[in-house]
Amino acid sequence: MIKSVLVTAGPTRERIDPVRFISNYSTGTFGYAIASEARRRGYSVVLISGPVQLRGPRGVRTIRVESALEMARAVKKEFKKSDCLIMAAAVSDWRAREAGSKIKRCSANRCIELIENPDILNSAGRSKGRRIVAGFALETGDLEKNALKKLKEKRLDLVIANRLSKKKTVFGNARTDVTIFDRYGNKTVVRNMPKSGIAKIILDKVSELGI
Ligand code: CTP
Repeated sequence: MIKSVLVTAGPTRERIDPVRFISNYSTGTFGYAIASEARRRGYSVVLISGPVQLRGPRGVRTIRVESALEMARAVKKEFKKSDCLIMAAAVSDWRAREAGSKIKRCSANRCIELIENPDILNSAGRSKGRRIVAGFALETGDLEKNALKKLKEKRLDLVIANRLSKKKTVFGNARTDVTIFDRYGNKTVVRNMPKSGIAKIILDKVSELGI
């Protein structure tokens, strides 16, 4: 039975020099909604959050991090003490190889070399044992195929798939569409629902899978 839930939220920031970074449009709304709903249900909740403008939910231990490496370290530590991980953070896939001194306007080389960040969800999925691991899949095309691939390859129990389109963005919107797949192949389609409502559906599914 699930007692403790670990949630990640928000973007990561990858420094390219002491004053600049690479990041993404994530606002953290989804992850914070999931952490709040989990707390409301009486779980012990830890939230690991990238830089966002949101206040930590009441009763939730919130750990603030900046980069993917910091998030990876925090997840590794906290996942040991959790029954379930829900990775809602938009983790940057890459970081700059070097982020030393400030890049000057007329520096000769304006190329930034990027190296891969660790896939936090993949590591958690592979080491989970009997714990529940849920991830997100942001896709521009082939939603079902790509989401199922992530579910299988990262050994997830649940994947929440979002379609990214030019017209509609999931970032910062209160309402969105998702398609949820579980490890048994069940599919749930949710249309134009507030993220707080989708958080309830996700936690219902997580608790069913954790029984
Ligand atoms: N994720 C992660 N570590 C990363 C990148 C992503 O843990 N370095 C997690 C996210 O939190 C999310 C899931 O992986 O739950 C899927 O993220 P997404 O960006 O859709 O997919 P990727 O695995 O990065 O694959 P791709 O970019 O090729 O679609």
